[in-house]
Amino acid sequence: MASALIWQSARCVLRRPAFPSQKPNCAQNFLEHLTTCRQICPASVTHQQNLSTMTSEKHTYANRLRGTEKNVWVEFTKLASEPGVLNLGQGFPDFKAPEHVVCSLQKAISSDNQFIHQYTRPFGHPRLVKALSKVYSPLLKREIDPMTEVLVSVGAYGSLFCTIQGMVNPGDEVIIIEPFFDCYEPMVRTAGGTPVFVPLRPSKTGVISSSGDWKLDAAELESKFSQKTKLLILNTPNNPLGKVFTLPELEMVANLCKKYDVVCVSDEVYEWMTYPGHQHVKIATLPGMWERTVTIGSAGKTFSVTGWKLGWSVAPEHLLVGPKLVHQNCVYTCPTPIQEAVAEGLELEESRRGSPECYFTSLSLELLPKRDQLAKVLEGLGMHPVVPEGGYFMMADISQMKADCPGDGSNEPKDFRFVKWMIKEKKLAGIPPSAFYCAEHKNMGENYIRFCFIKEDSTLEKAGEILKKWAAESAS
Ligand SMILES: Cc1ncc(COP(=O)(O)O)c(C=O)c1O
Repeated sequence: MASALIWQSARCVLRRPAFPSQKPNCAQNFLEHLTTCRQICPASVTHQQNLSTMTSEKHTYANRLRGTEKNVWVEFTKLASEPGVLNLGQGFPDFKAPEHVVCSLQKAISSDNQFIHQYTRPFGHPRLVKALSKVYSPLLKREIDPMTEVLVSVGAYGSLFCTIQGMVNPGDEVIIIEPFFDCYEPMVRTAGGTPVFVPLRPSKTGVISSSGDWKLDAAELESKFSQKTKLLILNTPNNPLGKVFTLPELEMVANLCKKYDVVCVSDEVYEWMTYPGHQHVKIATLPGMWERTVTIGSAGKTFSVTGWKLGWSVAPEHLLVGPKLVHQNCVYTCPTPIQEAVAEGLELEESRRGSPECYFTSLSLELLPKRDQLAKVLEGLGMHPVVPEGGYFMMADISQMKADCPGDGSNEPKDFRFVKWMIKEKKLAGIPPSAFYCAEHKNMGENYIRFCFIKEDSTLEKAGEILKKWAAESAS
């Protein structure tokens, strides 16, 4: 199969007049041709698998995508999939999704209604947008119009993409709070915008701490606003920190958005996952903020079905004009059976609100002991955890770790080298948080590792064994 593909690509290259005398007689010749092609077309070197793109500059990818090639998920998911590696990297559960949600999907696809297999309304399946309106109207303290104030897209990724592409003009500035979910930066740049970064700063390092110890400096944040600022991207509960922004913090952000007439994109995919003492507040509910906020959610995170890739934006109609245009000309509509199943799941959970079995609240109760268990074993190893107030990730401070982690001379941040070493030597995968910082601020993240704890207890126990063994080896 592989050789057939190479052969096909080789024929494609060899048909080109640049190599008229070459005969396609062996793969070796072909590889030599590639070397020549790379010299002609250096930009394509990063896409070595796509062999047929290496023949002409016209075959290379668009200029606006340059600089977006490196992706932490692509790189580390591959490393974490090596045999025997325990994966506490990417954020997905290794336990079963709620049975009723899975049954709803089974029911949808085996239904007698043949239209369930056909295109549905482009901006959201009617049953789903109605269910979302039911869930979000009380949370947003207003009646949400399901037909004009909701847009369903391909995961929260899709919702973020449609919002950023649909709102940002070349030259616009977008404020991004660090550490940030990594796709914000390339999404802004490919829209022609300029990301302007402002970090959350920890008040404690080198000791066990809380994500609440990471704060925005009000003066520093205000200094990032300008006439060009169009959007501010907020993420609460935050990935990777797990910080749940408090009401005063949100008021500070909201007041600046109002003062500088900026739209807030509020990524709230972990909205249901907060731990005792911390409450998720929707910035759109603060005075004067509904009119200027796009609130983004995710079915994948809400129902532990990240593979379903369904997300939504809830916003006033005027803020959804651009995102809807991007959506209708990009994916047009999302899979109907998935939307039907998520709608049924939301309807059921909404009817269970306030009862212990409601998944919106039961999941974080299930996650709480997992969080505490992971924090304990990390602390035992000397990796001081930043205990999250929400979400299902934990950052751990590795600055005092004794690890035989080589500097590989690659200019990679320390956390990238550390995680690669940890995967290879300890068979444990995490994510390097400097990926959640801009180029100038990578040093702020490189003394941490991000671990995901939405895992079976048995998985966390195995991680605990690895960490304890590591601690014992370090002590000896
Ligand atoms: C903060 C944040 N936003 C958005 C997403 C993307 O969500 P989805 O899987 O629904 O596309 C993620 C996924 O990890 C996330 O952590």
